[in-house]
Amino acid sequence: MVNKITVVGAGNVGATAAQRIAEKELARIVVMVDVAEGVPQGKGLDQWQSAPIEGFDSRVIGTNGYGETEGSDIVVITAGIARKPGMSRDDLLNTNAGIVKSVGEHIKQTSPDAIVIVVSNPLDVMCWVAKEATGFPRERVIGMAGVLDTARYRAFLATALDVSVRDIQAMVLGGHGDTMVPLISYTTVSGIPITQLMDRTTLDAIVERTRSGGAEIVKFLKTGSAYYAPSAGAVQMVESIVHDQKRILPCSAWLEGEYGMQGHFLGVPVKLGRTGIEKILEVTLTGEERVALEKSAAAVLEPMSVVNL
Ligand code: LAC
Repeated sequence: MVNKITVVGAGNVGATAAQRIAEKELARIVVMVDVAEGVPQGKGLDQWQSAPIEGFDSRVIGTNGYGETEGSDIVVITAGIARKPGMSRDDLLNTNAGIVKSVGEHIKQTSPDAIVIVVSNPLDVMCWVAKEATGFPRERVIGMAGVLDTARYRAFLATALDVSVRDIQAMVLGGHGDTMVPLISYTTVSGIPITQLMDRTTLDAIVERTRSGGAEIVKFLKTGSAYYAPSAGAVQMVESIVHDQKRILPCSAWLEGEYGMQGHFLGVPVKLGRTGIEKILEVTLTGEERVALEKSAAAVLEPMSVVNL
């Protein structure tokens, strides 16, 4: 366990992430920060009162300022407005860029050695805003998207095949948007290539459903977006860092030549350990997958050009 983990944003994603972090005892202190007066305090107190029942000793506290966050080992940024039906993640661009920029500046002051995990949307662009605002090296600014998109893909495959989700290995790369790239060539069920178990039409339909997996939930909820799976995704990354698990997870990373790309974030396989990104893995892609990844990079670069930092 580390000493302190801060979650910025006490909305559905942030509060659920804080609770999961506390239940797993990943930090001695879990701080939830939010601008809404009383909300982080109330949710933090409520979570701490679940500790005697759930049996965890991580102290959860809520606050409106950054004083209590000082010296955090890890900061998870979930702050920002969420999507409503009909909105794309890019519609959130300017509002959330302002919020994430200000959060990044606070983190730089109060937790200069923290590893930052970004969850706010549009994800890959917000990672860049956070990296610019903190000035942290790329090893310490990481975006959560691929873990979520891969979880959706694996869940849909498990339902269709009627097998355990545990046995489905897969990787969704690219930006966190409609252009994301589920890698069919790396999708297996206990090592068996997925193409031996499922016809291409069914597989294509699952890929398509994965791409709009977030929107499917927004359509149901009407007043917000998904949070159980997004918070679980962020916490899986936190866990790999805290316990130095060195897991290979698809995360949004700042590229410096990998996959022939640079100057933007994009979902790629990374090794996550105690120092953050320990390695970016460059895997062989089919021609079709490479074209899709390039298209996805273009969809990240375009909104970056209209953000004023
Ligand atoms: C989603 C949002 C959190 O994919 O981006 O559900």
